[in-house]
Amino acid sequence: MIALIASIAFSAQLQTVQLSSLDLSQIHQGWGKAMKDRSVTDTPLSIAGIAYLRGIGTHANSTFKVRLFGKATRFHSFCGVDDNAKSGRASVIFKIVGDGKELWKSPKLSWKTPAVEVNVSLKGVKSLSLEVGDAGDGVDYDHGDWADPTIEYNGKAPVSLVPPIEKPIILTPAPAKTPKINGPGVFSVRPGSPFLYLVPATGVVPIKYDAMRLPKGLSIDSKTGVISGSLKHRGTYQVILTAKNKLGIAMRGFKIVCGDQIALTPQMGWNSWYVWLDHVSDSILRRAGDAMIKTGLSRHGWQFVNIDDCWARVPGSKDPTLGGPTRDANGRLIPNGKFPDMKALTDYLHSKGLKAGIYTSPGPTTCAGYEGAFTHEALDAKTFADWGFDLLKYDWCSYKSQALGVPGFKKPYQIMGKLLKEQKRDMVFNLCQYGMGQVWKWGKEVGGHSWRTADDLGSGFTLFRDSFELYAREHLERNAGPGAFNDPDYLLLGKIAGSGGSLRNTPFTPNEQYTQVSMWSLLAAPLILSGDIATLDPFTLSLLTNDEILAVDQDSLVKAAHRVAKVGETEVWSRPLEDGSLAVGLFNTGEEQQPVKVDWSSLGIKGNYKVRDLWRQKDLGKFKGTFQSPVARHGVMMLKLTKVK
Ligand code: GLA
Repeated sequence: MIALIASIAFSAQLQTVQLSSLDLSQIHQGWGKAMKDRSVTDTPLSIAGIAYLRGIGTHANSTFKVRLFGKATRFHSFCGVDDNAKSGRASVIFKIVGDGKELWKSPKLSWKTPAVEVNVSLKGVKSLSLEVGDAGDGVDYDHGDWADPTIEYNGKAPVSLVPPIEKPIILTPAPAKTPKINGPGVFSVRPGSPFLYLVPATGVVPIKYDAMRLPKGLSIDSKTGVISGSLKHRGTYQVILTAKNKLGIAMRGFKIVCGDQIALTPQMGWNSWYVWLDHVSDSILRRAGDAMIKTGLSRHGWQFVNIDDCWARVPGSKDPTLGGPTRDANGRLIPNGKFPDMKALTDYLHSKGLKAGIYTSPGPTTCAGYEGAFTHEALDAKTFADWGFDLLKYDWCSYKSQALGVPGFKKPYQIMGKLLKEQKRDMVFNLCQYGMGQVWKWGKEVGGHSWRTADDLGSGFTLFRDSFELYAREHLERNAGPGAFNDPDYLLLGKIAGSGGSLRNTPFTPNEQYTQVSMWSLLAAPLILSGDIATLDPFTLSLLTNDEILAVDQDSLVKAAHRVAKVGETEVWSRPLEDGSLAVGLFNTGEEQQPVKVDWSSLGIKGNYKVRDLWRQKDLGKFKGTFQSPVARHGVMMLKLTKVK
């Protein structure tokens, strides 16, 4: 009798919710909008000829987060590519993640593949994430359907996760009025190449700059702090930089290395892509250079102003600005109508002490369909050098040799890497091929100074999580070092491109933005802002001008961080710094604020350490054995641990 009552009570409590009845507006996805009971293109749901009345039509990469309060018991669904994708290029992988842990993953599913059924236990799970990924080959035609997705629960019903609205709180203190020299402690140049370095210094202006023991061939402009000239002889020169204003003087050791290896610390700068896409022009680049100086970013070490795709001509285009011959009679590239004079543009940027970057593809055309370097590599490398560029991003796009495996992936980069070294100026070489063939293992060998480790970052926090996983799993820190940096893509901060040429705010919450800058600094990643530099709000500017955070990125030891602990949805990453201290990031990838703890044993240290909060630039006291602090949803606490003697 008792057993019967118990079983009636139990079944009375178990309920089922159809997920398509939840609020779908919070689903992030790569294209279009998630649809209730319809495919992403608004047709009836159908997978391999079988129709479904209820479900969610999405498009990779999509993430649907659901709060379960620990009350759910089971998730059930069918998954597959919607018949309306109508393309052999469609391929997706479905993933179910509970409290940060992968609970289930589908095989790669293509168009016409029969739906797979998923039935997983959700016992104890508080936060569920339903994800449709692009299976590693881009998102085109990836119409992923969750068909008839239901959750069985007991008590409080599941709801869509609506992220809390966070206020952008500025943690970075205003720089002191007294002079301070920022930026890396080391800079390198090849013998005979033009030398250009703008000494980054804060403090009230005017500042008078000097450099003691500057090697022969170099001189410093005392008003602008620009060091220029060239060095004939290889060697290491220990220079002392000074910056003086009416309130005092700052001094700092600065090592100049003349040798073959350039880009000893990660590049810091701006790139046009995420904000200007194909609207980029000469005047936008000049304005970016002006803004780098005017906002004060250059006083914190930001120097590169980089054009991304869309400066060349488009083969066969009828558009008068983009069309016409892509090369002249000698095969030299002709920029499109928005770039009247490349040399004048780089001269303009160089006159401010800044550097200029350009972009092309090893294929016949770039990702956006503009002229690429294929079969013209030698002339193009020379042209970029003649135009005065200091960096080349080489974006795989239309290049085809995937079938050849790693040697095929390497080939175009080997060719261009060698050509860049033959030029009479130093050009940083950024490989962009989305991590294929484990580029981090051979990027340096082919002449690269940095390499994109994954696809475009896009706008979902799951991508942060995925890159955390990639870097931890593959130990990417082992491939980083002076002149060799893993590149997880640009800083998506401030205003980025919206629809129809408009601008919109970064897709990241304020805490996620702190996470991005912190993580990139720990990883010794290039810091390249790709939001609008000309309209930076005070919060975004504060993220980009925290010298203690930037010093982690630019640390001369160039030991990138690795993950030392992962407990639930908390992670600790750490890297050793040149002064013997450790930079430590405490991350919370979960949906609620929670404490994050670091144990000295995971860092391989013992005893008393002074703990400093780097974003607030404040000492927190002495700690022994562990340190713990609450960390906000998707947020971070960046620490510096210095041994107490
Ligand atoms: C690819 C790259 C991006 C950007 C675009 C330009 O997607 O990964 O960073 O350069 O091409 O078309």
